[in-house]
This record gives sequence, C-alpha cells and structure tokens, in this order.
Amino acid sequence: MSALIVVEGIDGAGTTTQSRRLVEALNARGRAARHTFEPSSGPVGTLIRSVLERRLLDPNGEPRRLRSEALALLFAADRLDHLDSEILPALSAGTIVVSDRYDLSSLVYQSVTAAGDESLPWLRALNRHARRPELTIVLDVPFAEAKSRRKQRGGAEEIFDADELQLKLAAAYARAETLVPGDTVIHLSGVGEPEVVTQRLLDAVVSRIHT
Ligand SMILES: Nc1ncnc2c1ncn2[C@@H]1O[C@H](COP(=O)(O)OP(=O)(O)O)[C@@H](O)[C@H]1O
Ligand SMILES: [Mg+2]
Repeated sequence: MSALIVVEGIDGAGTTTQSRRLVEALNARGRAARHTFEPSSGPVGTLIRSVLERRLLDPNGEPRRLRSEALALLFAADRLDHLDSEILPALSAGTIVVSDRYDLSSLVYQSVTAAGDESLPWLRALNRHARRPELTIVLDVPFAEAKSRRKQRGGAEEIFDADELQLKLAAAYARAETLVPGDTVIHLSGVGEPEVVTQRLLDAVVSRIHT
C-alpha cells in the first residue's frame, strides 16, 4: 500500500538523516519506498534554497530578504509542484514516499516568523490543496543537542539559525498535532545513535502503515 510519510523537527533534529535511512530500511524489507524533500529540487524549491542560504543577492550584493508571507507563498507553490512532479506519481505507482519536511514545516516556520498563531488560518488556506500525509513523525531532540549537531554539520548559517528563533520553533513542534488537526502525528525521540533512531521510525511505520 502506498503512503506519504513525513519526517519533521527543528533544524539539526535529523530529519534529513532519518528520512533517508527510513527509506533504506523500508527498501531493505522489500518495500518500494522513495525519499524526497522540501524545499524540493524543482524550480520553486531551488529559488527558496537560494533565499534561505542567502545566495540570492540584491543588485548591491546584499542577500535578498523576502518577508515571511512571501516565503510562505513560495513554499506553498513549491509543495504543489513537488506533489505533481514527484509525490503523487510515486504514490500512484504504489510506492511509500518519505518526505523530509512537508506543510507542517510551513505552519511552524512561517507562523513563528510572521504573526504567530494569527497567521495559521492563512497558512492553512495556502496549503489546502496539499494531499494529507498518512503519518507525520516529529523527531524530538533537545535544543542544545540540535544546535551542536548543526555546528558539526558545518555549512553556511541559514536565515532560521538564530537561537531565539530555534527555541520558538521547538515550542511549535512540541504542539505539532494542534497545527495539523485530523492528521496522524507522532513524536519520537531523535536522540541516540542514528541506527537506533531509524529503528524507532521503522517500528512506528510498520505498526501504523500496512507494509
Ligand atoms: N542520531 C544522531 N546522532 C548524532 N548526530 C546525528 C544524528 N542524526 C543526525 N546527526 C548529525 O547531525 C547533523 C544534522 O542532521 P540532519 O539530518 O542534517 O538534520 P536536519 O535535516 O534535521 O537539520 C548532521 O551532521 C548529522 O550527521
Ligand atoms: Mg535537513
């Protein structure tokens, strides 16, 4: 049976590592599964990444800043493109799709960076056409641990990296189920060796998704 499974969490929680490992683990069990991610590799996703990584520059060489709402519109557009180009075709072919982030990330990041809870109805409306996932897994990792992992990972600082912001994001993820009412959302500890964490995800998936 096909299913859309979403892995979410604050930056450094391990969503990229674990969504990839989960696909490998499912494939090793003989299940057709594929990995995907948001912002996607499509044209809108590529534009979003250039903004997040401060690579999109103004004519005077300064990083191009987009207000939170403009970014929210891009993320919603990228999501529909991502669905049509990758997710829906794979689901139709009977594949399990594991996405590193989905619209919960939009509700978390764009509400925190815009007007808070007041912006939620608008953000939900923007994502009204986004197919609901069968399962959303939030990886819970203490703020300090996620921060030290981000440091170790290296790379350029992204626009969401500030401590104060990451604490607000962590608070939003702690109540993730209230942000996507009706969806199946579970919290799993993202602490421990990567293979131990992957086993937690795999157990949760096989007990909930008929594989
Ligand atoms: N369980 C883990 N224990 C220790 N380090 C981890 C674990 N999972 C991921 N990492 C490391 O932490 C960093 C961030 O992981 P990543 O998967 O990129 O997180 P995210 O995509 O959530 O920002 C990477 O350097 C990764 O290798
Ligand atoms: Mg990542």
